[in-house]
Amino acid sequence: MTKLKVSQLNKLKDPGSRGFTLDLVEGGQEAFVVKKNDKLYAYLNSCPHTGAPLDWVPHQFLNLEGNLIQCAVHGALFEIDTGLCVYGPCVNRRLEPLKLEIKNGKLACTTRHSE
Ligand code: FES
Repeated sequence: MTKLKVSQLNKLKDPGSRGFTLDLVEGGQEAFVVKKNDKLYAYLNSCPHTGAPLDWVPHQFLNLEGNLIQCAVHGALFEIDTGLCVYGPCVNRRLEPLKLEIKNGKLACTTRHSE
């Protein structure tokens, strides 16, 4: 995956999703962003079931209806706005949310731990 730019976010479909690499002090970590109803949500790309990446096709994190995040490994479904698993082997567990901010045209994305 690649770094995420504001221009890529602006081009994202609604609903739509995109994977990217999050730069952390301890190294890069795979993550993804979802746009839904003109709002952005970002999570680490690690399923709470096994820790595997959720996408089987790059940048494809949503189900066919575009209303839930889907893990391609065993089919878990997550709410876009909360990251809560509502179907599958990890029901009631959550994706790790990221804080995504655009300030002065630049993108800043952090984990809760790095704040
Ligand atoms: S690894 Fe995601 S549902 Fe099993």
